[in-house]
Amino acid sequence: MKKTYILGNWKSNKTLAEAIAWKQQFAQLIPSLPSDISVIVCPAFHHLPIFEEVTSYAIGVQDISPFESGAVTGAISAEMVRGVAAYALLGHSERRTKFGETDDVVAEKVIRVLAIGIKPIVCISTLDHVNALHEKIPDFGKTGMLLYEPLFAIGSGNADSPENANSMARKISRILPVPILYGGSVMPDNAKGFVNTMYLSGVGVGGASLNAEKFSQIINAVI
Ligand code: PGA
Repeated sequence: MKKTYILGNWKSNKTLAEAIAWKQQFAQLIPSLPSDISVIVCPAFHHLPIFEEVTSYAIGVQDISPFESGAVTGAISAEMVRGVAAYALLGHSERRTKFGETDDVVAEKVIRVLAIGIKPIVCISTLDHVNALHEKIPDFGKTGMLLYEPLFAIGSGNADSPENANSMARKISRILPVPILYGGSVMPDNAKGFVNTMYLSGVGVGGASLNAEKFSQIINAVI
């Protein structure tokens, strides 16, 4: 059975109190999930302890240091989140544009998380990103996942069509045959269209994941 992934990326949002309130509300709305649905929540680093005992969904980090633990001020290394994060979202377009992250830096991060047994989910918006990843990490196909996000669709309320996203996912899967999610303005009313396509395995949700009710509506739409 094809596994469906629903990933929530909180980006740079929520105080500790807001994260706790979200977690409590979400537990009431979605007490359990069918085995073919995998929900991954990516809060901020300082929220991670709140989620330590959660078992019905997985936790991911939104980024990771390209360096090992040590004298790297301000960085969170893969070793530091061992046992807490099952996934790491890497190379988001906001990291690529606002922090100047190159394909080389993204590949370093992939290497760091793989060394700790954390699954990398690499965000890509072009086939060049996919080719670069494949070239730098030949084994990526064994464990990784991809989140395809066309830039125009991120935070715009203007999602791509499932047909276009599926056609891009088909091209991506010829280079890297891994689970591919679609992201960019995913909402309760459009999520199912992406999940129902042949080459997409789920959705990545930014803004709508901040609201536990909206995020649970997306999950319920897909189940
Ligand atoms: P959005 O963000 O759902 O707010 O468009 C998607 C993303 O960047 O992951």
